[in-house]
Amino acid sequence: MITAQQQVQNLLDFIEASPSPWHAVATIESQLQAFQFEKLEESAAWQLKAQGRYYVIRDDSSIIMFVMGLKPLLETGFKIIGAHTDSPGLRIKPNATNAAEGLLRLGVEIYGGPILATFTDRDLGLAGRVSYKDEQGHIVSQLVNFDRPLLRLPNLAIHMNRTVNEDGLKLHKQNELPLILSTWAEESLPQAYFSELLQQQSACPAERILSWDLAVSDTQKGAFWGANNEFYADGQLDNLASCHAALQALLTESVLNGDNSVVCAFFDHEEIGSTSCKGADGSFLEEVLQRISLMAEDIREGYARVLAKSFMISADMAHAYQPNFPWAYEPDHKVMVNKGPVIKINANQRYSTESISQAQFIDWCEQADVPYQTYAHRSDLACGSTIGPISSARLGIRSIDVGNPVWAMHSIRESAGVLDHGYIIRVMQQFFG
Ligand code: CO
Repeated sequence: MITAQQQVQNLLDFIEASPSPWHAVATIESQLQAFQFEKLEESAAWQLKAQGRYYVIRDDSSIIMFVMGLKPLLETGFKIIGAHTDSPGLRIKPNATNAAEGLLRLGVEIYGGPILATFTDRDLGLAGRVSYKDEQGHIVSQLVNFDRPLLRLPNLAIHMNRTVNEDGLKLHKQNELPLILSTWAEESLPQAYFSELLQQQSACPAERILSWDLAVSDTQKGAFWGANNEFYADGQLDNLASCHAALQALLTESVLNGDNSVVCAFFDHEEIGSTSCKGADGSFLEEVLQRISLMAEDIREGYARVLAKSFMISADMAHAYQPNFPWAYEPDHKVMVNKGPVIKINANQRYSTESISQAQFIDWCEQADVPYQTYAHRSDLACGSTIGPISSARLGIRSIDVGNPVWAMHSIRESAGVLDHGYIIRVMQQFFG
């Protein structure tokens, strides 16, 4: 039996291999291949076998994987866990290089809602994908990862920012976020210099590079902390921790060979609202589920009947109580690290939970001997949302929003409880059956 500590170590390794959403999908793909999952292309015809294991990738950073169960779909419906592959942070602008006063800087755009101050004074790397034209004239893309301190956003000294501890660190989004890359001596064109760097790291020929998607990453490895190592810290816990947990549940022997048809759907673009070709508000999951249903049941009506039997867990992190900031929390809904997965409830459907899906999830927790907690946001604060209400609305599937408690959500370094990761994997296994 694998311990919670080992499961978290696996998670930290998973995050280290996944510095961007494009890398996260590649990491997941390699794990699936080790379990004989077969890749399906959306543009090809599919042949699905009973007990077959498959995955589909859309635009490199969203992935849906599924296992066909022994029982008919009309009987079981789909058991789905949804999560997201992206995390908020900084992305490199297209004309990124800015050379002046002997320094070369990269211009960045803010992706989603990061806590910007946490990006200062850290050993930042860069990861993503680069597209170029190969010798045969095809456009190809390749992953690139600078997993060493390459970039930095040095803070202003307190001597020039005397009230920083009273007013907080405020960064002007246009002027004060460009990242320092190198000293600059004007021997070559800045943009060409940057393309050369990309070539060194990726083997994409610099003169053939056409475009890129590049995310600023944190090169510091994940770590256990606390007197008894009961906590852990890393970047991108929101939401790679949920992706990892769902993947572990899926890759359980009894789930892989079970009665139920199980699905994991991990989307990019959650942090910016999910509206894109590969986001949860796009057609991806709908089309995949429809193709599976129509092939399995061979009747149009079958699809609606299968959906009516289906259930989705939308897994995303929850706000753990931090006792230094009691004013920020709903006093009767404090959720604590290491006290189990959190059921998120919002009357305005910022979360997809309703009483029946909640009751169902509680039952799974009890059967798996996993503690659980319930969270509601303060009534005087705007509540965040997840892919839960979006997917549930698009598909008409009963759904619940759950996730593990995390401190400092959207910091470049979040932290969480070791026990919770093991707990949520267990209840996900219970759900998949
Ligand atoms: Co999230």
